[in-house]
Amino acid sequence: MNQAYEKLTKCVASIRERTDFKPELALILGSGLGDYAQEIDVRATVDYKDIEGFPQSTVAGHKGRFIFGYVKEVPVVIMQGRVHYYEGYSMTDVVLPTRVMGMLGAKILILTNAAGGVNENYHPGDFMLLKDHISTFVPSPLIGANLDEIGTRFPDMSHVYDEELRGIVRNTAKELDISLQEGVYVQFTGPAYETPGEIRMCRTLGGDAVGMSTACEAMAARHMGLRICGISCITNLAAGMSDVPLNHKEVQEVADRVAVQFKQLVTEIIGKMGA
Ligand code: HPA
Repeated sequence: MNQAYEKLTKCVASIRERTDFKPELALILGSGLGDYAQEIDVRATVDYKDIEGFPQSTVAGHKGRFIFGYVKEVPVVIMQGRVHYYEGYSMTDVVLPTRVMGMLGAKILILTNAAGGVNENYHPGDFMLLKDHISTFVPSPLIGANLDEIGTRFPDMSHVYDEELRGIVRNTAKELDISLQEGVYVQFTGPAYETPGEIRMCRTLGGDAVGMSTACEAMAARHMGLRICGISCITNLAAGMSDVPLNHKEVQEVADRVAVQFKQLVTEIIGKMGA
């Protein structure tokens, strides 16, 4: 058996020793949504450290566990804390948790993150629905022997972000009076924030927001046929667009400021996506 697939099946088995909960929808929590756990009717939690071979997050403030439970009666699995490529893991390990959630039964994946605004019309505190991504600046998580058990060697990526799910997010944001941008997310490796030159390049390429996660997870999930929805919280203007230097604290503060709205949006869309 392919080594990566063997590792995946071991992780799934290890989780299955702790819970037989069957999620329909998976959610990855980015900055600002970290305490979303409060919105869930929790049935089980599994710490990443208890899963053999599972990558552990090293970022301060990121918890590391799966939460299983119900949001608006929809059975969900939630990743509280993700791992990033800049932490030193291989891309295969970075997307392992995403694949595990698919193997546990999730058919829909909601990805959330904090991102820098590249589009000049964006403001800190805005939300951006992903309509596409550019992952060219990070290695593909699909490099290596193909995992034939879960997906095809050359998967189509023309519609990564599901049109119907995007419609649900658009309508829900309107109902909740939350202003929503729609754009293209560009993933860089980090951990340094970008240079002004890199941000100008992003804009030239058609990027609207930048971050250090998400596109790789979306690719792995699309490879295995999940329907995907991505939402960014724009926490800052990207490098060179304002006079203030970028720092993680500012990113966290803006994310925290709009967390209530973000949580409300996520809860409502889960209810509709699971219906
Ligand atoms: N760049 C990359 N990642 C980010 C940013 C940014 O400006 N803000 C939040 N995450």
